[in-house]
Amino acid sequence: MSPSRKLRFIQLLPNSTTKGNFILKDLPGSGKRIDLLCRVLSACFDWAPVTWKRSHLEVIAVIQNMMSLIFKDPGDQMPLGEVAWAKLIQDVLEGKRVPFITRWNQGLEYVIDTVQAQEGKIWFLHEEGKPLKEIDTLNVSAQNSFMLGDHIGFDSKASRLIEKAGIQPVSLGKTSYLSSHCTAAVISEFERRIN
Ligand SMILES: C[S@@+](CC[C@H](N)C(=O)[O-])C[C@H]1O[C@@H](n2cnc3c(N)ncnc32)[C@H](O)[C@@H]1O
Repeated sequence: MSPSRKLRFIQLLPNSTTKGNFILKDLPGSGKRIDLLCRVLSACFDWAPVTWKRSHLEVIAVIQNMMSLIFKDPGDQMPLGEVAWAKLIQDVLEGKRVPFITRWNQGLEYVIDTVQAQEGKIWFLHEEGKPLKEIDTLNVSAQNSFMLGDHIGFDSKASRLIEKAGIQPVSLGKTSYLSSHCTAAVISEFERRIN
C-alpha cells in the first residue's frame, strides 16, 4: 500500500461474528451487527465519493479483535447494497477468495502498528473530539485513517490501545450518527479540502 494519498476507515466490531453462517435476511441479529460494516462499505465505495478517487479509499474491519478484513476499491465488481456486501463477507469468512478483500488473522494492535509503520496518521471518531473542520494539521494529501466504534462505541480494550498509540479524537458534531453517515461526512470534508 502506498503511503501517499489514502483515506481509510477502521470499523471496530468487537461483538460481530467471525463465522460466515449468518442469515442474510437478519444481519443485525445473526451477524451480530455486521450490518454496520455493510453500510460503511456501501457508503465508502459506492454512494459517498463524488470527486475522491475510490482507488484512494480503504476500509479495515476489525472483528472480535482477532480478525481484520481489508477492503479495497471493487472497481467494476461493485456490490450494490448491504446484502450484496454481506454475501461477500460471508464468502471471505468461509475461506473463499474475493479479489478486493484480504483477511488477516490479527486484531487492532497489529492494524494500528501496520498503519503507523507506513507513516499513516490515525484519528478516532468520537462525538466529544475536536471538530474535524477545525483540524489545521490534517494533511489530506497524505495517508489518514479514521477509526469508528460500533453501535456501543469503543470497548475498554480499544480505548486502551487508542490511548497507548496516542490517537486523537475527532468530532463531526455532538449528535451521534450512524458510522456510514460519519464515513460519508469525512469523505465529503476531504473532497472539500482538496477542491
Ligand atoms: C452509532 S455510533 C455509536 C454511538 C454509541 N451510542 C456511543 O455512545 O458511542 C458509531 C460510531 O460512529 C462514530 N460517531 C458517531 N457520531 C459521531 C460524531 N458526531 N462525531 C464523531 N464520530 C461519531 C463514533 O466512532 C461511534 O463510535
